[in-house]
Amino acid sequence: MKLIIANWKMYLGVKDSVRLAKNIVAGKNQVIVCPSFVAIPEVKKALGKGVKLGAQNVSWQESGALTGEVSAGMLVELGCRYVIVGHSERRRFLAESDFVVREKLKAVLAKKIIPILCVSDLSELKILNQLVINDLIVAYEPVWAIGTGKTPTMEEIADMHKKIRARAGKSIKKLLVIYGGSVEEKNLKNILALPEVDGVLIGGASTTLSSLKKILQ
Ligand code: 13P
Repeated sequence: MKLIIANWKMYLGVKDSVRLAKNIVAGKNQVIVCPSFVAIPEVKKALGKGVKLGAQNVSWQESGALTGEVSAGMLVELGCRYVIVGHSERRRFLAESDFVVREKLKAVLAKKIIPILCVSDLSELKILNQLVINDLIVAYEPVWAIGTGKTPTMEEIADMHKKIRARAGKSIKKLLVIYGGSVEEKNLKNILALPEVDGVLIGGASTTLSSLKKILQ
């Protein structure tokens, strides 16, 4: 069984998210859906049994005067068991630093949410130093592969996954390493067939009903 995580980014509002969520059936793979914050409550109601819910972002603080932020505790209230942390779009367009990503990880772990930590190279794993973690999903997402239709070769993906596991695995009880970046129906099978790959994190191709259905088949 592999993991398929749908990151709907800022593509879908509430109505479209619900429409998609209603059509997701948990098949042979485990499915986690990460809608935008505004759609989480309605998507939760619409999701079928066995499909898990995640968020795309979280605050590093538990509560306080932080206009516009959403805390890990609030995500727990909404039924989110997972949250994406350190996505390259946030690092790039919202100036999220390694320090902030590490603080977010700590906030998430304190609430027993499973982080989906996005890294585009091995150096970004240094934020894991000295953190005690039971469950972690690391998503290897090369920046140049996101939304471009380009992917690394299967050998490169396998090699990076091995390296991530070797570097991050020591202090983590249960580590899953997944690939993200232009995953589509046409390359999904080959990527999931790699023994080093525990699953995929899919953006664009998970946001339309026709391609999502093919992905989940
Ligand atoms: P795309 O699948 O659109 O390339 O996005 C990947 C991604 O950023 C998932 O988090």
